[in-house]
Amino acid sequence: MTTISQLELYHMPIASSELGNDPLPFFAKARESHDWLAASDIGYVVTGYKAIDDIMRLDDKLTMPGEEIVDIMGARGTGWGDFAIDQMLVSSGERHKRLRGASASAFMPGNVKRLRPLMQETVQQILDEWAPKGAFDFTEFASQFPVRVMFALLGTSTERLPEIMKYLEIHGESFNLEVEKMDLIERGYQTLWAFVDDLIVERVAQGEKGDLLDTMIAARSSGQITDKELHQLLILMFAAGYDTTKNLLILLMRSLLDEPEVYRRCGEDFDYAKKAVKEQLRFATPSNTMRMVKEQFEYRGVTIPAGTMLVFPLTISGRDPAMFSDPDTFNPERPEKHATQAFGRGMHICLGQFLAVANVEEGVHLIAQRIANPRLAGPVAWKPFPGVWGITSLPIEFDPVAAEAMA
Ligand code: HEM
Repeated sequence: MTTISQLELYHMPIASSELGNDPLPFFAKARESHDWLAASDIGYVVTGYKAIDDIMRLDDKLTMPGEEIVDIMGARGTGWGDFAIDQMLVSSGERHKRLRGASASAFMPGNVKRLRPLMQETVQQILDEWAPKGAFDFTEFASQFPVRVMFALLGTSTERLPEIMKYLEIHGESFNLEVEKMDLIERGYQTLWAFVDDLIVERVAQGEKGDLLDTMIAARSSGQITDKELHQLLILMFAAGYDTTKNLLILLMRSLLDEPEVYRRCGEDFDYAKKAVKEQLRFATPSNTMRMVKEQFEYRGVTIPAGTMLVFPLTISGRDPAMFSDPDTFNPERPEKHATQAFGRGMHICLGQFLAVANVEEGVHLIAQRIANPRLAGPVAWKPFPGVWGITSLPIEFDPVAAEAMA
């Protein structure tokens, strides 16, 4: 048995802009030294699909770093600091079950299916506004869509949308360890708290609508969760669903700009659009994650001691050549059946995955009908790789199609 620190591993510049812009050559290089591990400044990177699958399921040996991050940020006693330590992603055991149980039913596929007309209506409204432009940055367009569905899902008006989006962006970056931004992060967190507080107060005053918010308020009323947990869960949902879903749609558009025939078929055939989304979930996705080892374990002859930080590159694990033939070809008809790791593994597997997939399926099907022949119209800019990864600028030009001209 070899301890992880004794291995001679490739050192990956994981937070560098070169790697954020194009991570694949770095992972190929890492595989020349070891088939499932690399080193980096923030922890050991588990580079292989199979190893990610096996290790991420060891929930009792791993924990999401919370306190460590709060200490680095000097944020003990702040609202954001409390959130980072208390939130569901950091919780485990009975507490995690209790928190997850407070809203899980609302995210099941049957309930998500009922929201599809709402998604279609929302994306059509945004397209009515944006499609006539003939050119725009697709990242700006995409940032409007899933968050408006989330607002509608929680039965709230879009009046405060621009302000809330701004603070969701800040919250999204709050785990990138930029200490100098702590004041802004805390202000953003307090704004999000006040926003969800208004939602709760308004709903209690107005009476039930039978939606997600009612399910969660009922969990508070029955004593399953506290008032603070209700607020934190709502903030987590807005935050976990915002940057991720919009980035999946953007990454899909980036793939389809190179595949005009696939793009066209996504507009014509909804079942084919679903296949394209599934292939994107293998090809490149938005969310990487980390775990701190809390109890030593052995995996494939390597001892991994308590205190080791592990990074799971879920965003590109579908490009592992050991699992996928011709991994760099975008092929919605590919035969392999390995499940996507985009939504994680183990007990924290994404609660909103069916909602996210449905949003992107409905989105791309309608976008491909109203935005014909999209072309790249400028340089593409990428986020840093750790945390939520994706594209920050995707300028496109295209031929607008009016709603009335749709089949
Ligand atoms: C493409 C979109 C999305 C991606 C790629 C994504 C990815 C992930 C991943 C990888 C995890 C697990 C993180 C870990 O174990 O460290 C996770 C957890 C979670 N996601 Fe998502 N997510 C997406 C959309 C959403 C949406 C739309 C919502 C809700 C509105 C949501 C809510 C959550 C919640 C609440 C958790 C924590 C679950 C728990 O701790 O048990 N996500 N997500």
